[in-house]
Amino acid sequence: MTSKLRAAVIGVGVGWNHLAGYQASDLSECVAICDANPQTLNERGEKHNIPQNARFTDYRELLASPNIDAVSVCVPNFLHEPIVMAALQAGKHVLCEKPLATTVAAAQRMIAAAKAANRLLMVCYNHRYRPDVYWLKQQARAGVFGHIYAAKAGWMREGWIPTHGAWFTQKDKAGGGVLIDLGVHALDLALWLMDYPQPVSVSGAAFAEFGQRAQKHHAGHPAPVHFDVEDMGMGFVRFADGSALALEASWAAHREPQQDDYYVRVFGREAGANVFTRKYSEHIVELYTLNDMQPRQAIAIKPDLSAFEGLRRGHHAVVHHFADCIVNGVTPESPAEHGLIGLQIVEGIYQSSQSGSEVKI
Ligand SMILES: NC(=O)c1ccc[n+]([C@@H]2O[C@H](COP(=O)([O-])OP(=O)(O)OC[C@H]3O[C@@H](n4cnc5c(N)ncnc54)[C@H](O)[C@@H]3O)[C@@H](O)[C@H]2O)c1
Repeated sequence: MTSKLRAAVIGVGVGWNHLAGYQASDLSECVAICDANPQTLNERGEKHNIPQNARFTDYRELLASPNIDAVSVCVPNFLHEPIVMAALQAGKHVLCEKPLATTVAAAQRMIAAAKAANRLLMVCYNHRYRPDVYWLKQQARAGVFGHIYAAKAGWMREGWIPTHGAWFTQKDKAGGGVLIDLGVHALDLALWLMDYPQPVSVSGAAFAEFGQRAQKHHAGHPAPVHFDVEDMGMGFVRFADGSALALEASWAAHREPQQDDYYVRVFGREAGANVFTRKYSEHIVELYTLNDMQPRQAIAIKPDLSAFEGLRRGHHAVVHHFADCIVNGVTPESPAEHGLIGLQIVEGIYQSSQSGSEVKI
């Protein structure tokens, strides 16, 4: 291992954030990129000064390079498993975009392969590095909440069925709809604040009311040609430690026009908290607890998040942490097992929706 991680990015749609993150971190460099679309590949390559001979359209050629320590896998969901497997077999550490895979079984195979190859497999949960959520995690680590026994999380859009990359609305390519796309982010925030308790049962429902009628897709884009996933989903999860969580997510619903509600709420024995915004780039958080002087009165604390200004956020924070794990042996915050638990819950919601009853995990 050299002192800097030599990283590569496969898929430079959202993957360009990984590329920029590796370049911005003092622990890594981006030594190669790959994209099946030569135009996207070269545009990103030019913008980020990646030499021509370090740009690949075939990921297998990129993986054959011995000068790459790790890769970010940022391709459509159905390609996560084959490309992660190939990367692990080639001896690379892997940071995989969310969702880890399209099914629980695929995620389990990927985790087993990472163990067999003795390589790090991490899932990319960039929303943890929002200042509001990160501040809440600091409070949780300091024991401010006590035991968190309940949580609610959601990402509810009014009209935003994705149309770029037609794969998003196809079950065999995406693994599901809004729950596996946006739901896993909100779910992860709640689970992370709760210290990832083990889910034991899931009840839920998934709906497809707009996509198939060519309604409420991305403004200005043509409707998806192929739509066989849910555009709204709800779930209720019980955990082995007795705690519980409610989740909701929608790409499309009859609700406040153009609104994009994003929230995570936790209820602990000693305090509770709420992150709520109608624009997920805004950071709004409140913490609720008892007033020590007047024990019957609740108080709301609105933290000053300015301390987070200028710090790494989002994807830049994830790839820096990934590099830190490999270069300095730091413990991964989002191991692949967290991606597996998210998929167990989402898949549980799909099964419960079909059977009409609670599903054991
Ligand atoms: N963490 C986040 O905030 C976030 C945001 C958006 C997307 N994502 C995830 O990132 C992944 C990619 O999403 P996206 O929005 O960039 O999708 P996209 O369709 O916009 O881009 C995917 C890119 O992968 C390329 N690609 C497809 N097949 C390939 C192959 N075999 N080899 C190399 N490149 C290939 C495509 O040409 C395209 O440029 C998905 O898993 C998605 O869920 C995460």
